[in-house]
Amino acid sequence: MEASLTARDRVGIQDFVLLDAYTSESAFLDNLRKRFHENLIYTYIGTLLVSVNPYKELDIYSKKQMDTYMGVNFFELPPHIYALADNVFRTMLSEFNNHFILISGESGAGKTEASKKILQFYAVSCPSTKLLNNVRDRLLLSNPVLEAFGNAKTLKNDNSSRFGKYMDIQFDHQGGAVGGHILSYLLEKSRVVHQNHGERNFHIFYQMVEGGEEDLLRWLGLERNCKNYSYLVQGGCPKVSSINDKSDWKTVRKALSVIEFSETDIENLFGIIASVLHLGNIKFAADDRGYASLNNNQEMHWLLGIPAQVLQHGLTHRKIEAKSEEVFSPFSVDHAVYARDALAKAIYGRTFNWLVNKINESLANMDSSRKTVIGLLDIYGFEVFSVNSFEQFCINYCNEKLQQLFIQLTLKSEQEEYEMEGIEWEPVPYFNNKIICDLVEEKHRGIISLLDEECLRPGEATDLTLLEKMEDKIGGHPHFVTHKLADQKTRKTLERGDFRLLHYAGEVTYCVVGFLDKNNDLLYRNGKEVMRQSKNTVIKHCFPSTEPDSKRRPETVVTQFKSSLVGLTEILLSKEPWYVRCIKPNEAKQPGRFDDVLIRHQVKYLGLMEHLRVRRAGFAYRRKYEIFLQRYKPLCPDTWPNWKGTAAEGVHCLIKHLGYKSDEYKMGRTKIFIRHPRTLFATEDAFQVCKHKLATRIQAKYKGYRSFFRSYFRLMCTIQTATKIETCWRGLMARKEREKRAWAVKVIQKFIKGFMTRNEPSCNDNSEYLAYVRQNYLIRLRENLPKTVLEKDCWLTPPPIMKEVGDTFFNTNYFRCSYNIQHQTSGVTSSMFKGRKENYPLSVCRPFLDTRIGKRIQSFTIFLEDTYRNYMVKYDRNGFRPRVRQLIFTQEAAYLVEEAKIKQRIDYSSLKGVSVSNLSDNFLILHVTFDDIKQKGDLVLQCEYLFEALTKMSVIANKQNCIKVVQGSVRFDIQPGREGFVDFKSGQESMVYRAKNGHLMVVRLM
Ligand SMILES: Nc1ncnc2c1ncn2[C@@H]1O[C@H](COP(=O)(O)OP(=O)(O)O)[C@@H](O)[C@H]1O
Ligand SMILES: [Mg+2]
Repeated sequence: MEASLTARDRVGIQDFVLLDAYTSESAFLDNLRKRFHENLIYTYIGTLLVSVNPYKELDIYSKKQMDTYMGVNFFELPPHIYALADNVFRTMLSEFNNHFILISGESGAGKTEASKKILQFYAVSCPSTKLLNNVRDRLLLSNPVLEAFGNAKTLKNDNSSRFGKYMDIQFDHQGGAVGGHILSYLLEKSRVVHQNHGERNFHIFYQMVEGGEEDLLRWLGLERNCKNYSYLVQGGCPKVSSINDKSDWKTVRKALSVIEFSETDIENLFGIIASVLHLGNIKFAADDRGYASLNNNQEMHWLLGIPAQVLQHGLTHRKIEAKSEEVFSPFSVDHAVYARDALAKAIYGRTFNWLVNKINESLANMDSSRKTVIGLLDIYGFEVFSVNSFEQFCINYCNEKLQQLFIQLTLKSEQEEYEMEGIEWEPVPYFNNKIICDLVEEKHRGIISLLDEECLRPGEATDLTLLEKMEDKIGGHPHFVTHKLADQKTRKTLERGDFRLLHYAGEVTYCVVGFLDKNNDLLYRNGKEVMRQSKNTVIKHCFPSTEPDSKRRPETVVTQFKSSLVGLTEILLSKEPWYVRCIKPNEAKQPGRFDDVLIRHQVKYLGLMEHLRVRRAGFAYRRKYEIFLQRYKPLCPDTWPNWKGTAAEGVHCLIKHLGYKSDEYKMGRTKIFIRHPRTLFATEDAFQVCKHKLATRIQAKYKGYRSFFRSYFRLMCTIQTATKIETCWRGLMARKEREKRAWAVKVIQKFIKGFMTRNEPSCNDNSEYLAYVRQNYLIRLRENLPKTVLEKDCWLTPPPIMKEVGDTFFNTNYFRCSYNIQHQTSGVTSSMFKGRKENYPLSVCRPFLDTRIGKRIQSFTIFLEDTYRNYMVKYDRNGFRPRVRQLIFTQEAAYLVEEAKIKQRIDYSSLKGVSVSNLSDNFLILHVTFDDIKQKGDLVLQCEYLFEALTKMSVIANKQNCIKVVQGSVRFDIQPGREGFVDFKSGQESMVYRAKNGHLMVVRLM
């Protein structure tokens, strides 16, 4: 990145940590503005990426750009979302742990676009195979489907996500994307029945009406005119110029089949969308007594295959249970409209959840082997409208929680880096928004508790009684104010039904009207019962008859939301964080317009100044010694062109030469820390000058060199040399090719001869062929072993040359003897593991072999004695990186071997114990004593044939008593005085990864 520092006056700096006035919002804004006007929308704060929505297509997302950023050091190229994506990916692969990228910003700031760019980058950059491409396509295509059902045009954004989305992308150990999982948060269901002026319902409705095929519309009873549907026109803008519903419909149709929705599922899904539209058109009239009645409604016919009479009754009556009796009480017209809308919202909301689950089934990774994940969190940003309701309250509460997490994690990681580098940490003052989180969520006293209490209490609770209750209970809180509590000046800005929260991001005034209703989200019980009569299988699935009925009230919306946020926080806390902060440059969605006031506000509430302050608390700049030295080594004669010592020594020598003062920098363990940007800028400027001089010198030399060669004679020489080299090269290649062919001819000839003489006694001509036949039979035999050794008739028929041996094998003592050995050893196994380890029963029908690696395969022959050999995955003691190794048990010792190299020898006398978990994993930990100073530490291994290997070891080494089956966690020694842990647990998915606490986490399927 330093390369363009000299252009900093024009294009600003690429990393805010290099801003001299780092506490000044104006300086921050100036830098952002300079860059924005140069179409440089990305800027770093350390590893955090700030992105400003350009509102125009920029040519920075091509395949070529992706290639440029793949595998390149984070700070070497201009800031880009690809650089961040690539860095996360490579860190995950090298550190073997889980990560998440939190993308935040207000509506329309570019979060969803950013998450799509990241996904596209992975789709291109990850290894590809047919299977992986399949997963990749599903991951990519789940997006348009979710957007069709979960996004809508709002005043802020024509494609605003009306739900929160957290998506895990799962990678195998080579970095192939093998699966995914999506969690969705709080869909704004109220949009189904009501839209503010200038807004639309969810895209899918318009897509279907505009783009649906004639036959489909006829089948669903729809007309191709959005204006005919009352749920589609309340915002007064069914058509939007920036949206092409017709072509989006085609994309969604195609995507649905790629993510494997069956034709029946698709039909059912479309039936539901159409039914919601029909439901919205149902009108009620008042009968003589003022009750809602519903006559001649054409719509009834199209509603989900529910008999018209059932539906009619269900929409106009409410079921009341009195003791043992059920009574139906008729609705007033208003009440009936309310119940109809509640039903429409419930149908859509539940179908959305069904859709997410269905997508998850299609993204599920079937392979239970090790995988690590990168989570993408694209969640609604802080929202302030002129009138803010319950939805904004939930969304802004979510942002408070995320800000809490952000501050905690940023401070923590900064502190950890200082500690790791051995640099003293100076505490940073910052605003902790916990006080606001508590105001909202504290048990019994927070707004959520008060709201729930008011929703659930008997008697006449209304939105206004809620307001009074809040005034009463939290009236004195410094972040809460209402009309009644406010001083005279503030009172003028508040209506009587308003309350205002002073969020960390700024003040938001909420109108309390509708809070109780939206929080209750009541669906009358007979509404559900009516739905259960539907012929639509998706609806049947969404309204199961097993659902607990309304005798116990379901959890309120806000409480459900609160729990889902707790779950989300847990997910995030177990992973390494990365951040993308999106900024919206203007409200008009226009390119090139940089609205200072709007952006200043976002900079503040996105916590960017806070983050910068933390990053800059001590030092503006830090880089690994190797990188720093590589760049600046021309500045010192001792380090140029090559430095012989360590990088740290080189940097030390370099900065001494440059005259850095002792308070301007600190030398960490692996990095240099520079306190002020000006020190770095001076170094960089010196480098630019030096580079120029160097370039001039090189150019001069080159010119001389060129003139030297200019003469004709030299040119001829060069041509001759080039021709000679080319001839030699071609000759070499041709010889190689000829040799290869000759070899192939010989092999084929020998094979044919062997086949023709296969029934003759072994001779030179057929010996290799017969060896091949034997080996082939044994391999097939290994894959088709009978369940028990006694099933004599089930053994594969041997080829004629092996028949005799086969017969001998089954009929002689050898067979009995081998049966006995199996039997005895399995007795050993059962005494160690039966009833203690979950997967023991599965191992019983798998016969043990003497060894799993034949001497021929084994690449060296130092173990001549009788040994057991098997492949294992060995996890590095420090980073838990997995490596394939052989484990060999001889009479004296266990050996860990990599190809032909012994990596570790453990004499049985030094083997203290072996731990395995009680779960169904196949991990074993060999504990060693450190009497032998050469001993490296305990071994963490994973072995497909765990029971066999441990049984062999216990028999060979007589170590039966030292094998322990443990629960939960195993402590092991990395080296004397340094401990490590392997934690075992059961979960929804099999996984092995390095957890945030540094332990190796082994999760086995429940
Ligand atoms: N990197 C970008 N390049 C071009 N246009 C963008 C970019 N990011 C966002 N936009 C534009 O802004 C609109 C809103 O972005 P979106 O990601 O949907 O916002 P959010 O998810 O934050 O509400 C997009 O539809 C697109 O037109
Ligand atoms: Mg979005």
